[in-house]
Amino acid sequence: MWNDKHLISLGKTDATEARVLLSSAHADTYECGILAGKSVANLFFEDSTRTRLSFSLAAQRLGASVVDLTGKGSSLSKGESLLDTAWTIEAMGVDAIVIRSSQSGASDLIARNVKVPIINAGDGTHQHPTQALADALTIGQSMNRTDGWDFRGLKIAIVGDVVTSRVARSNVCLLQTLGAQVTLVGPSMMTPKSFEAMGCKVTHDLDKVVCESDVIMMLRIQFERGGGAVLASKRSYHHEFGLTAQRAEQMKPDAIVMHPGPMNRGVEIAGDVADGNRSVILNQVTNGVQIRKAVLHHAMIG
Ligand code: CP
Repeated sequence: MWNDKHLISLGKTDATEARVLLSSAHADTYECGILAGKSVANLFFEDSTRTRLSFSLAAQRLGASVVDLTGKGSSLSKGESLLDTAWTIEAMGVDAIVIRSSQSGASDLIARNVKVPIINAGDGTHQHPTQALADALTIGQSMNRTDGWDFRGLKIAIVGDVVTSRVARSNVCLLQTLGAQVTLVGPSMMTPKSFEAMGCKVTHDLDKVVCESDVIMMLRIQFERGGGAVLASKRSYHHEFGLTAQRAEQMKPDAIVMHPGPMNRGVEIAGDVADGNRSVILNQVTNGVQIRKAVLHHAMIG
């Protein structure tokens, strides 16, 4: 998970490292102002609400100052390269760089070329480690697994546009490392069998999976990455692969509904289900701040 002080991917997650970070985020007992005098650069070259604001709030709540840069209005629009941008920001003396990019591998490229900690806030279709960590924190809290963060025996379904989803890739790695059994569900073009190489199951029968799962994590169709290009209609997708109110009624009594956001209400999830009593979607958002505090603390202090 940690590569030196960088957090790029959960591809080779060490369960102990992940559990230490989850415990730290759950306890939230950081010394007030522990990052005072330090600065974090938030480079968001792709749109974001949750991740960008939660990294800013996390840094500020630990006492660090934050500078923001987006693609529009930066010198990237004049042709400056990603690496020149990173070197320029590092030369200004920041203590950590958080980066979101539409290019898979962008944060890894920067991490291999700078000295300050790099935290991947989502790179293309590759990885979104802090979202998966926030999700694991939410699952642990909702399922009373905070004592040891051992997810053995939990059945977790990740449903929808998996093929374009960095959230799904990070979650498959992390949740299986913590012991959960993960099943990917969706139309065949969104959930190819090749994902079984990651150790999870793949199926196209949502109704069967809904009745058996402890956690159902719905994914947005990422229209901006070409997801859904082959769909007949949003209506037919909702009927076949959406978490409708009728489907949610078939869930196990204590099962929970998750979504990393942003949601397409009425497409992958019915509004009533998103707002219903099984939903922990806003807990995921709250935990996004908690986990990013833990990540920034680890990256900058150790
Ligand atoms: N889940 C997530 O990454 O949301 P944002 O795109 O709003 O940051």
